Amino acid sequence: MTSQAVAYFTEHGSVEAVNARIGAGCDARLALVMSRLVHHLHAFVKDVALTQEEWGLAIDFLTRTGQMCDDKRQEYILLSDVLGVSMLVDAINNRRPEGATENTVLGPFHVDGVPEMPMGTNICKDGAKEPCLFEGVVTDLQGRPLQGVRIDVWSDNEEGFYDVQQPGVQPEHNNRGVFVTGADGRYWFEGIKPVSYPIPDDGPVGQLLGRLGRHPYRPAHMHFMVSREGFDTIVTHTFVGGDAYLASDAVFGVKASLIAPFDPVEGGATKWRSRFDFVMNPRDVV
Ligand code: BEZ
Ligand code: FE
Repeated sequence: MTSQAVAYFTEHGSVEAVNARIGAGCDARLALVMSRLVHHLHAFVKDVALTQEEWGLAIDFLTRTGQMCDDKRQEYILLSDVLGVSMLVDAINNRRPEGATENTVLGPFHVDGVPEMPMGTNICKDGAKEPCLFEGVVTDLQGRPLQGVRIDVWSDNEEGFYDVQQPGVQPEHNNRGVFVTGADGRYWFEGIKPVSYPIPDDGPVGQLLGRLGRHPYRPAHMHFMVSREGFDTIVTHTFVGGDAYLASDAVFGVKASLIAPFDPVEGGATKWRSRFDFVMNPRDVV
């Protein structure tokens, strides 16, 4: 090989120099994703003319982000959330036809293994000041009620914490439930009217939000994971209409179609009632 044929690293030819090293046997998808990542990453570094000091700060930030992670805390997902990447990946991978219920971010507080409960169960185990009835119907795109739909729900308590954030303080599975629809496709359960809360902000991601002049709050919401064989699983929330943080959710999870009514109830078993219907999209049909 002559010296002219070697793509030595230069500022101008940096992308080509790095991408030329990808081997012929590399998996095609990996080669595509990594070569495009290098392309955009180098363009970014050139665009902002990154200084040595800024590069060092970035390395330190990523190091601390990794050090914050363990089996209960995932600071990298939080970083992805506040940068809008989680919502973007979700949007690209869950395109649905008009009328189907939209997805939003899963978040870190879902728990597997919550037992199935009879419809109507009160999932709040630490005393609700603002009890709320959640109800609705699950249908297909043609409006036909769907039987055998698993509805997995979770929310914070009235202090703004999930049970898993306060082990030993809140009862296990507080504000969590799993329900399965009958032939009429209906669901109903009691919980609390959720409250807005800050995402975990005691780590590097919280510091970044602070430096950017961003608050860490999420508008009040109830999480739903709605699943049935043959349909796209809906991972979503219903948001409390009128919440002060709807327009500035720290993780960009709000969609207009997911803002639900929370109506005051006079003389009922609960103070509030929120009705939200879910429409499931058949799997592999966009
Ligand atoms: C949540 O809604 O539970 C959540 C979502 C993203 C980051 C943190 C919390
Ligand atoms: Fe949440």
